[in-house]
Amino acid sequence: MQIDIVSVFPEYFDITGLSLLGKAQEKGLVTIKAYNLRDWTHDVHHSVDDTPVGGGAGMVMKPEVWAECLDDLLGAGGTGRAGGQATDPVLIFPNPSAPLFTQADATGLSQASRLVFGCGRYEGYDARIPDYYRSRGVDVREYSIGDYVLNGGEVAVSVMLEAITRLLPGFMGNPDSIVEESYTGEEPLLEHRQYTRPTTWRGMTVPEVLISGDHQRVDRFRRDEALERTSRIRPDLIGRLDCDRLDKKDRKT
Ligand code: ADE
Repeated sequence: MQIDIVSVFPEYFDITGLSLLGKAQEKGLVTIKAYNLRDWTHDVHHSVDDTPVGGGAGMVMKPEVWAECLDDLLGAGGTGRAGGQATDPVLIFPNPSAPLFTQADATGLSQASRLVFGCGRYEGYDARIPDYYRSRGVDVREYSIGDYVLNGGEVAVSVMLEAITRLLPGFMGNPDSIVEESYTGEEPLLEHRQYTRPTTWRGMTVPEVLISGDHQRVDRFRRDEALERTSRIRPDLIGRLDCDRLDKKDRKT
């Protein structure tokens, strides 16, 4: 997978060289390049924004600069600076006013071979930028990572990037780690709680069933806990459960 990120603070993405994502790049599973949007400006001040048409506070990112940059990266009408021709670039803009980014989106995007992220700053970007590339047949997505406002798209891109790349085959040392996680699979349940040794710590013991060695009881206990926690903490997720998938014992909990 090739990932290009455009930002006025490309240094933010130095962190992608760390930890598992850094190792995934060393293994050749993913290539991540961060570009400075200001490299596509032509004025002495390298300006990327202007005041909002119609009035209002703050500044809005200009369409011309973004378009020069994205035409280059997406290869529209020329040889891209990113090098190589993209086959299925998905263009993604973080935006607090967009639909929420979910595990299902991460799973879908992990199957793409090329992602291009554009980080907005200030009051956001000119709305014609995503509209233009959509009209040119590009798969353009806008996502919010939560109901709060950040200073810019960089942190949101870091979040999406991690959620997507950890699903790449070969990324996890133990692929089972991602099979039984919250939000994964067809049932969007919060995960049961986890414990490790010692089984008694500061007078607190782990639930007895977990040391019983009875795998059926352990599975039942964990599923009951997942259902109970989800209905208490995230009732919106319980509402999305397919009742036909519940077994008889689930119905009693
Ligand atoms: N930019 C600013 N806030 C954001 C959010 N919550 N999600 C995505 N992009 C953002």
